[in-house]
Amino acid sequence: MALHINDTFIKSFVRADEIKHLMPFAKSALSTLQAGTGTGNDFLGWLDLPVNYDKEEFARIGLAAEKIKKQCDIFVVIGIGGSYLGARAAIEFVKSPLYNNLKKDTPDIYFAGNNISSTALTELLSICEGREICINVISKSGTTTEPAIAFRVFKSLLENKYGVEGAKERIYVTTDRARGTLKHFSDEAGYETFVVPDDVGGRYSVLTAVGLLPIAVAGINIAAMMQGAADARVAYTDVSADKNDVLTYATLRNIFARKGKSTEILVGYEPYMLMLNEWWKQLYGESEGKDHKGIMPASVIFSTDLHSLGQYIQDGGRHLFETVINIKDPGVSFEIPYDEANVDGLNFIAGKTMDDVNKTAMLATLIAHNDGGVPNILLEVDDRTAYSFGYLVYFFELACAVSGYLLGVNPFDQPGVEAYKKNMFALLGKPGYESMKETLEARIKNA
Ligand code: PA5
Repeated sequence: MALHINDTFIKSFVRADEIKHLMPFAKSALSTLQAGTGTGNDFLGWLDLPVNYDKEEFARIGLAAEKIKKQCDIFVVIGIGGSYLGARAAIEFVKSPLYNNLKKDTPDIYFAGNNISSTALTELLSICEGREICINVISKSGTTTEPAIAFRVFKSLLENKYGVEGAKERIYVTTDRARGTLKHFSDEAGYETFVVPDDVGGRYSVLTAVGLLPIAVAGINIAAMMQGAADARVAYTDVSADKNDVLTYATLRNIFARKGKSTEILVGYEPYMLMLNEWWKQLYGESEGKDHKGIMPASVIFSTDLHSLGQYIQDGGRHLFETVINIKDPGVSFEIPYDEANVDGLNFIAGKTMDDVNKTAMLATLIAHNDGGVPNILLEVDDRTAYSFGYLVYFFELACAVSGYLLGVNPFDQPGVEAYKKNMFALLGKPGYESMKETLEARIKNA
């Protein structure tokens, strides 16, 4: 197994019988999920995705990635939320957060359409000047404002640069199979399209074309990633197994929530995990945060954030638990040098590897945070390969769904996301929103 839970740092916070009492409910939640009889059951396509995926499209993704690598030196991925976080997490985790600056034979990859910042868009356009560009617009609905604005801009840039026919060869669209304006528009325009399956929600879509095309363009082995997810699917499928880490994780976080630990902090000790944290926050936040319930997902990168949020975690409000991801094999070895002058007094660690020190910092922090009253679930992950990423993705997705059912919410909808959109459309004067505009403007005036 590429992943297992180490329970050393939760022992003083949870008794074995507490886990035993809640475990049957977690097992029942997993059975309900597998039987497809629970709430939100029209969005369960991700469950079997690692084995039951469109093989023809998978091959086409590989071919498109090869074409894109030849066509351009900047690949702009346009999408927001579940339509970009997974791909970005994978590229940073498996390759590097500095991917664009590495020596490589794959294009630079930039993400656009995940904000409404004129600064970010202007800067990216300036980076694109004089470079060969391809874009992948990803939107299941095809109508999300942020990516739609960016798509307008980049479509026009490509058409000006390459002509309408040339641009057509450089625009790749990932959207729903048949419905939706983006699909119709793309078919008419002659863009190559990929599918977000109807039964897979945005935040569960990294193993569809949504994630796979950008990930493949970055030169990551997507077959290995799917294999990792497929092996996790097998490993966690047995509801009656003595040990099933998905059930353990879902059970533990629900026990902590019931004890008033309403915030879960995902902890990584490597900067390449920052976007994995962001992907995880969206997955858990959108899946569980509803009906005035849910664990607030937060994240840190240590030791960086030990010098910022570390103080709060050690000593502040005791509403926290942490889930720490330990990547066992760092993949590289970097020795700390000896220094004759020893002005920093650090010669006692000279000759050790950076990773030895990083892992020691992790152990020291686990103990300190335990002493400060913070339970720590430790997830041991073998390495940062594409295989392990796929495994980790499936583990978190399945645990999230089980945990959502345990909490008594529909883990597959996101009704709350609409609230800001409606207000924004009304305030911007979208036809049909006239009376809402008046009400909102009155509220703003009276504020
Ligand atoms: O997880 C989700 O469903 C959301 O985060 C969506 O991915 C996000 O809102 C983007 O939606 P769309 O792909 O329809 O543009």
